[in-house]
Amino acid sequence: MKFSVLTIFPEIFSGFLNESIIGRAVEGEQIEVELLDIRLFCKDKHKNVDDRPYGGGAGMVMKPEPLSDAIFFAKKNNKNAKVAAMTPQGKPFTQKKAVSLAKEDELILVCGRYEGIDERVFDLYVDEEISIGDYVLTGGEIPAMVVIDAVTRLIPGVLGCSDSAGEESFSEGRIEYPHYTRPYDFKGIKVPDILLSGNHGEVEKWRRTASLLRTLDKRPDMLFTDPVSEEEKKILSLLFGRLEDFVRK
Ligand code: ADE
Repeated sequence: MKFSVLTIFPEIFSGFLNESIIGRAVEGEQIEVELLDIRLFCKDKHKNVDDRPYGGGAGMVMKPEPLSDAIFFAKKNNKNAKVAAMTPQGKPFTQKKAVSLAKEDELILVCGRYEGIDERVFDLYVDEEISIGDYVLTGGEIPAMVVIDAVTRLIPGVLGCSDSAGEESFSEGRIEYPHYTRPYDFKGIKVPDILLSGNHGEVEKWRRTASLLRTLDKRPDMLFTDPVSEEEKKILSLLFGRLEDFVRK
């Protein structure tokens, strides 16, 4: 998969693209990341990427011409490449979105800075806007890294074990079950016995139950967005039955 990133700060990406799993994915050519410095597409002699807003007010706005030329350049080999702009007003980035973006061959990520980007860039070239959360960052570079990271680890072969991306938090609309490694007893807290039983069926059942209960505790909203299965309904009614017994005693 190819990512083209349009930014005025390409250096921000160097550590991220050279280390760990993402570094290996670049090295192994599972992903290609083209960093395009928007400033290089400025035609004026001062290489200004921004200008004052029409109507007045604080802050500067990114000019449309350098961005449109950079997007045109990024699309040189694939006119249909999807263009996503990183903005705080975009659609929330979720695991589902990462899964759907991982199916693309090419993705152009536009990183805004300053007060924002001239609206005509969105009108003409941007297919979607992505937000990584309800807060305002100084630019779209960190959000672009978030998108590249979440998408890359879903590309087959990027993570060591082929199915290790499937089992984790959010993959099925539930928080992940707790993990333990040695020692068995750490400062008085012991590993749940079922995990030592060697009974894979029971371990799986325990994990699904733990995952459901953690979701109920930490992210109950997820139980409304991702449907509760028959097995989960049974676990919940057992749990609430016990709670009711406790209240009635
Ligand atoms: N640019 C500034 N803040 C952002 C956010 N929360 N998500 C995506 N892009 C942004």
